[in-house]
Amino acid sequence: MTTILRIDASSRTTSSISRSVGDYFEQSWLTHNPRDLVLRRDVVTDPITHIAQQTITGFYTPADRLTDELQTATALSDRLIAELQAADMLLLTVPMYNFAVPSAFKAWIDHIVRIGHTFTYDGSSFSGLLTGRRAYVVTSHGAAGYRHGDPFAAADFLVPYLRFILQFLGITDVHVFAVEGTTGDELTLTAAIERAKREIDAVVAAASIVPVAAA
Ligand SMILES: Cc1cc2nc3c(=O)[nH]c(=O)nc-3n(C[C@H](O)[C@H](O)[C@H](O)COP(=O)(O)O)c2cc1C
Repeated sequence: MTTILRIDASSRTTSSISRSVGDYFEQSWLTHNPRDLVLRRDVVTDPITHIAQQTITGFYTPADRLTDELQTATALSDRLIAELQAADMLLLTVPMYNFAVPSAFKAWIDHIVRIGHTFTYDGSSFSGLLTGRRAYVVTSHGAAGYRHGDPFAAADFLVPYLRFILQFLGITDVHVFAVEGTTGDELTLTAAIERAKREIDAVVAAASIVPVAAA
Protein backbone atom coordinates (compact mmCIF):
# COMPACT_ATOMS: atom_id res chain seq x y z
CA MET A 1 0.00 0.00 0.00
CA THR A 2 1.25 3.45 -0.94
CA THR A 3 0.53 6.41 1.31
CA ILE A 4 -0.11 9.54 -0.72
CA LEU A 5 0.12 13.00 0.77
CA ARG A 6 -2.02 15.40 -1.26
CA ILE A 7 -1.43 19.11 -0.82
CA ASP A 8 -3.81 21.66 -2.34
CA ALA A 9 -2.88 25.31 -2.69
CA SER A 10 -5.41 27.17 -4.85
CA SER A 11 -7.22 29.94 -2.99
CA ARG A 12 -10.23 28.88 -5.03
CA THR A 13 -11.94 26.05 -3.21
CA THR A 14 -14.53 25.84 -6.01
CA SER A 15 -13.92 26.17 -9.78
CA SER A 16 -10.20 25.58 -9.28
CA ILE A 17 -8.55 23.92 -12.27
CA SER A 18 -5.55 22.66 -10.31
CA ARG A 19 -7.79 21.09 -7.66
CA SER A 20 -10.12 19.47 -10.21
CA VAL A 21 -7.28 18.05 -12.33
CA GLY A 22 -5.75 16.89 -9.02
CA ASP A 23 -9.07 15.14 -8.27
CA TYR A 24 -8.85 13.46 -11.68
CA PHE A 25 -5.33 12.26 -10.91
CA GLU A 26 -6.39 11.00 -7.48
CA GLN A 27 -9.41 9.11 -8.83
CA SER A 28 -7.39 7.64 -11.66
CA TRP A 29 -4.63 6.58 -9.27
CA LEU A 30 -7.05 4.98 -6.81
CA THR A 31 -8.84 3.15 -9.62
CA HIS A 32 -5.53 1.51 -10.52
CA ASN A 33 -4.33 1.21 -6.91
CA PRO A 34 -7.46 0.82 -4.77
CA ARG A 35 -5.59 -0.11 -1.59
CA ASP A 36 -3.59 3.12 -1.51
CA LEU A 37 -4.30 5.75 1.12
CA VAL A 38 -4.65 9.50 0.51
CA LEU A 39 -3.83 11.93 3.33
CA ARG A 40 -4.64 15.59 2.80
CA ARG A 41 -3.18 18.95 3.68
CA ASP A 42 -5.00 22.00 2.36
CA VAL A 43 -2.91 25.13 2.91
CA VAL A 44 -5.88 27.36 2.04
CA THR A 45 -8.73 25.98 4.15
CA ASP A 46 -6.23 25.23 6.93
CA PRO A 47 -3.70 28.05 6.52
CA ILE A 48 -0.11 27.61 7.62
CA THR A 49 1.18 30.40 9.85
CA HIS A 50 4.40 32.01 8.70
CA ILE A 51 7.58 31.02 10.47
CA ALA A 52 8.53 33.56 13.16
CA GLN A 53 11.59 34.50 15.21
CA GLN A 54 11.19 31.64 17.69
CA THR A 55 10.49 29.11 14.91
CA ILE A 56 13.82 29.94 13.33
CA THR A 57 15.61 29.87 16.67
CA GLY A 58 14.07 26.42 17.21
CA PHE A 59 15.20 25.25 13.78
CA TYR A 60 18.82 26.01 14.69
CA THR A 61 18.69 24.66 18.25
CA PRO A 62 19.82 21.04 18.86
CA ALA A 63 16.89 18.79 19.83
CA ASP A 64 18.25 18.14 23.35
CA ARG A 65 18.39 21.90 24.05
CA LEU A 66 14.91 22.84 22.92
CA THR A 67 12.98 24.69 25.62
CA ASP A 68 9.21 24.25 25.96
CA GLU A 69 8.79 27.58 24.18
CA LEU A 70 10.97 26.51 21.26
CA GLN A 71 9.21 23.16 21.06
CA THR A 72 5.91 24.98 20.77
CA ALA A 73 7.36 27.28 18.11
CA THR A 74 8.51 24.32 15.99
CA ALA A 75 5.53 22.02 16.64
CA LEU A 76 3.76 22.87 13.38
CA SER A 77 6.96 22.27 11.39
CA ASP A 78 7.39 18.94 13.21
CA ARG A 79 3.84 17.95 12.27
CA LEU A 80 4.16 18.97 8.60
CA ILE A 81 7.49 17.15 8.26
CA ALA A 82 6.02 14.02 9.93
CA GLU A 83 3.27 14.07 7.28
CA LEU A 84 5.90 14.11 4.55
CA GLN A 85 7.97 11.38 6.18
CA ALA A 86 4.86 9.17 6.46
CA ALA A 87 4.16 9.51 2.74
CA ASP A 88 5.58 7.38 -0.07
CA MET A 89 4.22 9.70 -2.72
CA LEU A 90 3.15 13.33 -3.01
CA LEU A 91 0.37 14.86 -5.07
CA LEU A 92 0.70 18.64 -5.16
CA THR A 93 -1.84 20.93 -6.82
CA VAL A 94 -0.35 24.41 -7.17
CA PRO A 95 -1.55 27.34 -9.27
CA MET A 96 0.72 30.03 -10.66
CA TYR A 97 0.30 33.29 -8.75
CA ASN A 98 2.41 36.16 -10.02
CA PHE A 99 4.71 33.74 -11.85
CA ALA A 100 5.49 31.74 -8.71
CA VAL A 101 3.90 29.60 -6.00
CA PRO A 102 1.00 31.03 -3.95
CA SER A 103 2.17 32.52 -0.66
CA ALA A 104 0.00 30.00 1.23
CA PHE A 105 2.10 27.23 -0.29
CA LYS A 106 5.38 29.07 0.33
CA ALA A 107 4.45 29.27 4.03
CA TRP A 108 4.26 25.45 4.00
CA ILE A 109 7.63 25.19 2.24
CA ASP A 110 9.25 27.40 4.89
CA HIS A 111 8.20 24.90 7.57
CA ILE A 112 9.22 21.73 5.79
CA VAL A 113 12.58 22.67 4.31
CA ARG A 114 14.43 22.31 7.59
CA ILE A 115 18.07 21.58 8.28
CA GLY A 116 18.70 18.28 10.02
CA HIS A 117 15.16 17.11 9.33
CA THR A 118 14.58 17.20 5.58
CA PHE A 119 18.07 18.15 4.37
CA THR A 120 21.61 18.30 5.66
CA TYR A 121 24.48 20.67 4.89
CA ASP A 122 28.09 19.66 5.52
CA GLY A 123 29.63 23.04 4.77
CA SER A 124 30.06 22.39 1.06
CA SER A 125 27.06 20.40 -0.15
CA PHE A 126 23.43 19.74 0.62
CA SER A 127 21.74 16.34 0.85
CA GLY A 128 17.99 15.79 0.77
CA LEU A 129 16.61 13.39 3.37
CA LEU A 130 13.24 12.57 1.73
CA THR A 131 14.69 10.14 -0.77
CA GLY A 132 12.72 7.15 -2.03
CA ARG A 133 9.57 9.17 -2.67
CA ARG A 134 8.01 10.33 -5.88
CA ALA A 135 5.92 13.42 -6.59
CA TYR A 136 3.15 14.24 -9.03
CA VAL A 137 2.46 17.93 -9.46
CA VAL A 138 -0.53 19.60 -11.11
CA THR A 139 0.02 23.25 -11.93
CA SER A 140 -2.42 25.73 -13.46
CA HIS A 141 -1.44 28.87 -15.35
CA GLY A 142 -3.84 31.58 -16.53
CA ALA A 143 -1.74 32.27 -19.64
CA ALA A 144 -0.11 29.80 -22.01
CA GLY A 145 3.49 29.72 -23.18
CA TYR A 146 5.56 28.86 -20.09
CA ARG A 147 6.89 25.53 -21.33
CA HIS A 148 10.54 25.06 -22.29
CA GLY A 149 11.24 27.05 -25.47
CA ASP A 150 7.94 28.97 -25.29
CA PRO A 151 7.79 32.79 -25.13
CA PHE A 152 7.21 33.06 -21.34
CA ALA A 153 9.47 30.21 -20.25
CA ALA A 154 11.81 32.67 -18.53
CA ALA A 155 8.88 34.00 -16.46
CA ASP A 156 8.07 30.59 -15.01
CA PHE A 157 9.23 30.66 -11.40
CA LEU A 158 6.66 28.02 -10.50
CA VAL A 159 7.55 24.72 -12.15
CA PRO A 160 11.37 25.12 -12.01
CA TYR A 161 11.07 26.18 -8.35
CA LEU A 162 8.86 23.22 -7.43
CA ARG A 163 11.23 20.85 -9.22
CA PHE A 164 14.22 22.41 -7.48
CA ILE A 165 12.72 22.29 -3.97
CA LEU A 166 11.61 18.67 -4.40
CA GLN A 167 15.00 17.65 -5.71
CA PHE A 168 16.67 19.61 -2.87
CA LEU A 169 14.69 17.46 -0.42
CA GLY A 170 15.80 14.29 -2.21
CA ILE A 171 12.70 13.74 -4.34
CA THR A 172 14.00 13.35 -7.87
CA ASP A 173 11.17 11.29 -9.38
CA VAL A 174 8.86 14.20 -10.25
CA HIS A 175 6.16 14.45 -12.91
CA VAL A 176 4.49 17.79 -13.64
CA PHE A 177 1.11 18.12 -15.35
CA ALA A 178 0.89 21.78 -16.38
CA VAL A 179 -2.52 23.12 -17.37
CA GLU A 180 -1.90 26.31 -19.30
CA GLY A 181 -4.30 28.95 -20.62
CA THR A 182 -6.92 28.52 -17.90
CA THR A 183 -8.14 32.09 -18.30
CA GLY A 184 -8.53 31.63 -22.05
CA ASP A 185 -11.78 30.88 -23.87
CA GLU A 186 -13.79 27.76 -23.13
CA LEU A 187 -12.29 25.85 -26.06
CA THR A 188 -8.71 26.58 -24.99
CA LEU A 189 -9.45 25.63 -21.41
CA THR A 190 -11.19 22.38 -22.35
CA ALA A 191 -8.31 21.41 -24.64
CA ALA A 192 -5.75 22.14 -21.90
CA ILE A 193 -7.65 20.07 -19.34
CA GLU A 194 -8.13 17.20 -21.79
CA ARG A 195 -4.42 17.25 -22.61
CA ALA A 196 -3.55 17.03 -18.91
CA LYS A 197 -6.06 14.21 -18.37
CA ARG A 198 -4.63 12.20 -21.28
CA GLU A 199 -1.16 12.67 -19.84
CA ILE A 200 -2.40 11.58 -16.42
CA ASP A 201 -4.07 8.48 -17.90
CA ALA A 202 -0.79 7.46 -19.55
CA VAL A 203 1.43 8.22 -16.56
CA VAL A 204 -0.84 6.53 -14.01
CA ALA A 205 -1.29 3.45 -16.20
CA ALA A 206 2.49 3.15 -16.70
CA ALA A 207 3.20 3.68 -12.99
CA SER A 208 0.63 1.06 -12.01
CA ILE A 209 1.86 -1.80 -14.19
CA VAL A 210 2.63 -4.74 -11.93
CA PRO A 211 5.65 -6.74 -13.13
CA VAL A 212 4.54 -10.25 -14.19
CA ALA A 213 6.79 -11.87 -11.56
CA ALA A 214 5.17 -9.80 -8.79
CA ALA A 215 1.58 -10.25 -9.97
C1 LIG B 1 -3.38 36.33 -7.48
C2 LIG B 1 -3.29 35.70 -8.83
C3 LIG B 1 -2.12 35.81 -9.56
C4 LIG B 1 -2.02 35.20 -10.82
N1 LIG B 1 -0.86 35.31 -11.49
C5 LIG B 1 -0.71 34.68 -12.68
C6 LIG B 1 0.52 34.73 -13.41
O1 LIG B 1 1.50 35.28 -12.97
N2 LIG B 1 0.58 34.11 -14.59
C7 LIG B 1 -0.48 33.42 -15.12
O2 LIG B 1 -0.34 32.85 -16.22
N3 LIG B 1 -1.65 33.35 -14.47
C8 LIG B 1 -1.79 33.96 -13.26
N4 LIG B 1 -2.96 33.87 -12.58
C9 LIG B 1 -4.04 33.02 -13.12
C10 LIG B 1 -4.03 31.65 -12.44
O3 LIG B 1 -2.79 31.02 -12.56
C11 LIG B 1 -5.12 30.78 -13.07
O4 LIG B 1 -6.37 31.38 -12.91
C12 LIG B 1 -5.13 29.38 -12.49
O5 LIG B 1 -6.08 28.61 -13.16
C13 LIG B 1 -5.45 29.43 -11.00
O6 LIG B 1 -5.47 28.12 -10.45
P1 LIG B 1 -6.86 27.45 -10.05
O7 LIG B 1 -7.71 27.38 -11.28
O8 LIG B 1 -6.49 26.14 -9.53
O9 LIG B 1 -7.49 28.33 -9.01
C14 LIG B 1 -3.10 34.47 -11.34
C15 LIG B 1 -4.29 34.37 -10.59
C16 LIG B 1 -4.38 34.95 -9.36
C17 LIG B 1 -5.66 34.80 -8.57
